[in-house]
Amino acid sequence: MSQSAVLAELVDVELEVHRPVYTRILHPLTLRVGRSTSLAVVGPSGAGKTTLAAILGALQPPSGGTYHFAGANIADLSRKESARFRNLNIGFVFQNANLIDERSAWRNVAIALTDPTLERRAVEQRCREALADVGLQAIADREAALLSGGERQRVAIARAMVKNPLMVIADEPTGALDQTTGRDVLALLYGVTARGATLVIVSHDPYAASLAASSVSLVDGRIAE
Ligand SMILES: Nc1ncnc2c1ncn2[C@@H]1O[C@H](COP(=O)(O)OP(=O)(O)OP(=O)(O)O)[C@@H](O)[C@H]1O
Ligand SMILES: [Mg+2]
Repeated sequence: MSQSAVLAELVDVELEVHRPVYTRILHPLTLRVGRSTSLAVVGPSGAGKTTLAAILGALQPPSGGTYHFAGANIADLSRKESARFRNLNIGFVFQNANLIDERSAWRNVAIALTDPTLERRAVEQRCREALADVGLQAIADREAALLSGGERQRVAIARAMVKNPLMVIADEPTGALDQTTGRDVLALLYGVTARGATLVIVSHDPYAASLAASSVSLVDGRIAE
């Protein structure tokens, strides 16, 4: 991969924790993730998949190694800088959509737009467009509590995409959905690569992972070949 085609580059990244007991969660691993592509992270429960996703999303600083994202050094950012980095660059989709139930769909999407200089009308417009992109324009004003599981995940995708992030990280995004609904959600998620984002998807589902351009398999905190 040429350097300009690389979005995220982890070199000898590792994670050990010292409390409550010393545990090595990730052994040193080196991984390059391209731009506008997809990467599946697979492996058994407890292998370190969510941990790797958390490092890629700058939610968890590694205890060793280097992490560069779009050329910038991420591993040494302060908590505040990491939060700013995430707000600008990363969209997250988790197993549960984590919506605020008493807010409308579009107001849930608006949570991702943190730029205080954006005008309210512009925020609402962008949120409605992001919902239209996932086929939910008709329910933009509906309270999140009333949405189905598949609709909630689509709102979560709209929320992840509304800021045009360079990377979308999805951890078991279809874990709570039936197969048909899950496939619709996967099609939308993989669609982000056509809009300039890189998708990193963690999944137990072989079908979900099979759609990815490449995959990395973790076992006991190491990349397994
Ligand atoms: N802060 C922490 N302190 C100690 N151990 C941790 C910590 N975070 C994660 N672990 C452990 O690291 C291992 C990897 O956890 P992780 O959540 O990354 O696994 P996973 O591959 O996502 O598993 P699953 O498929 O069940 O979601 C697990 O054994 C977990 O208990
Ligand atoms: Mg996990």
